[in-house]
Amino acid sequence: MHATRPTLQITPAWQGQQHYLAVRTYSLALAAPLSAEDQCVQSMPDASPTKWHLAHTTWFFETMILRPHASGYRVFDPSFHYLFNSYYEALGPRHPRPQRGLLTRPALDEVLAYRRHVDDAMQQLLESADAALWSSIAPLLSLGLQHEQQHQELILTDILHALWCNPLLPAYQPEPEPLVCLVAQPKPLRWLAFEGGLADIGGQLPDDGFVFDNETPRHTALLHPYALADRLVSCGDFESFIADGGYHRAELWLSEGWARVQQENWQAPAYWLSSGDPRLAARTRHTGWHVFGLQGVKPLRPEEPVSQLSFYEACAYAEWAGARLPTEFEWEAACGTAGLTGMCDQVWQWTRSSYDPYPGFKPQPGVASEYNGKFMVGQLVLRGGSVATPPGHTRPSYRNFFPPATRWQFSGLRLAKDL
Ligand code: AVJ
Ligand code: FE
Repeated sequence: MHATRPTLQITPAWQGQQHYLAVRTYSLALAAPLSAEDQCVQSMPDASPTKWHLAHTTWFFETMILRPHASGYRVFDPSFHYLFNSYYEALGPRHPRPQRGLLTRPALDEVLAYRRHVDDAMQQLLESADAALWSSIAPLLSLGLQHEQQHQELILTDILHALWCNPLLPAYQPEPEPLVCLVAQPKPLRWLAFEGGLADIGGQLPDDGFVFDNETPRHTALLHPYALADRLVSCGDFESFIADGGYHRAELWLSEGWARVQQENWQAPAYWLSSGDPRLAARTRHTGWHVFGLQGVKPLRPEEPVSQLSFYEACAYAEWAGARLPTEFEWEAACGTAGLTGMCDQVWQWTRSSYDPYPGFKPQPGVASEYNGKFMVGQLVLRGGSVATPPGHTRPSYRNFFPPATRWQFSGLRLAKDL
């Protein structure tokens, strides 16, 4: 006689539950090295407190999934709808973005309790979901998890800016001191040639597992013959640009970029410390450029990709190097071809493409229609991914986007040229 074994049913809803747990736990892991004070601070209007990110991602699940789909769901705190709505006009008024750092209440503990409340309800919903319910919540679950991953990157970029504003320049996560410090030079840059022609651009559901609406519809773009550098522009490369007067030569800059250089007295990428910087003198006798990152202040490593660049600086560098930025289509068409398997690197790569709708673009239906489409003006597309991008989040058709003066992201560049 065979003993009957309980069968483990690996249903899509069960897989969704595991994915949910993994992503939600990762956010808490990112916050773990931070104190409650760290998690409350807002260092500038564009950056949000960690605590706000933790609450807003939770609000997203509560608003998009639990309220409409979990019968009998009890809202954790009705005032949170006003506090943690980011930009959804259709959902009513919200707390002004520049004032997120003033939210000393709810306390961090209450935000963590909010997360547990929503996690419990989500687990219950996913456990009890029949096929019909699952098919209506599955796309929202994917969106909520991808949304939380975007905020995981923002937790790191935003806290790095806050720590940069602290005269002590504390490390997010100190790195053990290396016994020997090897300084590698950047490897010589090589050009990879592409014929051009018609290229398939964009993603498509369900083939691609998940894509944001801004990656659709898939369509054809015409490319002229071009070449891409086989590696990103490095800190060593950028040091040469600075040494050659890059920040003082108007002819290298777009007019808007040059105005910014003057206005804000840019002399180097954000988070670079020059020898003469008093914050540096207070902590080390070493001279030469230093760079502040998640591991604290380090001597500049010439081989590392340059980061914390605005689009303007990326363009000026390319001009100085006798090259240009790639278009987002050139980038995507080259992705995965010979020699360029690792297009997702340590920093996002500015492209020369403005963040526009693809031909035939329609925002996804429902409340989440405000997610991407309404930001398609005055921003540039970045491709690839960065050290702060959670594993598995990015893909060849992924479109990140920021205004051209943005410097607090992990953003750098890859050179391109016409053939
Ligand atoms: C794609 C990073 C520009 O910061 O607003 C977060 C990500 N979208 N919540 C942003 C996002 C909705 C987005 N970026
Ligand atoms: Fe958001």
